[in-house]
Amino acid sequence: MSKITAFGTYVPERIIDNHYFEKIIDTNDEWILSRTGVKTRRFSKEGEFTSDMSVKAVKDLQKNSGADISDIDFIIACTTSPDQPMPNVASRVQYKLGIQNTGCNDVYAACAGFVYGLQLAHGLVTAGINKKVLIIGAETLSKITDFEDRTSCILFGDAAGAALVEPSEEEHFIAFNSGTNGSFGQDLYLSHKKNSINGVEMRCNSKIVQNGKSIFKWAVGNIPIKIKELVEKAGLTLDDIDYIVPHSANLRIIEAIAKSLDYPLKKMPESITEFGNTSSASIPLAIAKSRKNGGIKSGDIILMMGFGGGLTFAGAIIKWSL
Ligand code: UT7
Repeated sequence: MSKITAFGTYVPERIIDNHYFEKIIDTNDEWILSRTGVKTRRFSKEGEFTSDMSVKAVKDLQKNSGADISDIDFIIACTTSPDQPMPNVASRVQYKLGIQNTGCNDVYAACAGFVYGLQLAHGLVTAGINKKVLIIGAETLSKITDFEDRTSCILFGDAAGAALVEPSEEEHFIAFNSGTNGSFGQDLYLSHKKNSINGVEMRCNSKIVQNGKSIFKWAVGNIPIKIKELVEKAGLTLDDIDYIVPHSANLRIIEAIAKSLDYPLKKMPESITEFGNTSSASIPLAIAKSRKNGGIKSGDIILMMGFGGGLTFAGAIIKWSL
């Protein structure tokens, strides 16, 4: 049995409002706000990378909990924007935090990353393989954003979240689900090798390429079903769920999920309005914001649902323990 024993987040200092984009592309504040819900997002500094922000989220976790991090024995860094393809971000974090004896692996599942990380951490701990697992969801998306593509660049931001999972006398992880629809692979990708991969023409510019409309439709059509399936799997009903925390992809997607489930929007914490779409960091940010505002508290049953590039999704129902 396991539970989350510590939690922290970090956002870079530089605040970017919607007017910033009016100077570089043909857009305006009203369009961005009404189509995405984003008011501001944060961009990392030039020399600030995903592992740097991960370390700061871990420092916040330590400040919040007083946790000892020296005996962490596995680090899972979930990211789509690593400092570099090799070494992995987890190994950079291990080095920067001086953690001596720990396994290090990255999860590469885009916006579903953090929830996949929690699933793996729970598995490692309950199987008795590890005792203290650090999960990080961190992104420097501004470094892989195509600022010439007006349909995508207005969406993304940089941030990091971190959690510790450890053995517990009571099970706090209640149910999981996950899956992928790989046929949408060409609707959200980043490519830096060739203009054609697996016979599919690609834009090979090392930047995020997305067919926003297609992903929007997929998310609104599928995520409510995946949430319902997960609730059923747990033997619960939606009334038992105190908060649903979906990936903050776009405020309109969150509103559509609420409507489709007939679930109160006010019980769906989000991070999109203040921080933009931060991929694997968006769920931790939404939880932190909700807790700061008197929302999620110890004992609450929360359902997290990450979804994105793949197109992957990963869900978890947990009893919040902090
Ligand atoms: O994190 C997981 C992965 N990503 C997502 O989940 C993203 C999901 N998709 C979305 O959030 C939305 O599809 C976007 C925000 C990316 C785009 O919003 P949309 O409502 O789907 O807009 P659209 O692409 O259908 O474009 C509508 C119109 C078009 O003009 P016409 O053809 O109707 O004349 C676009 O050219 O809006 C135009 N447009 C813009 N106008 C002003 C597109 N981008 C902009 C812009 N400013 N930045």
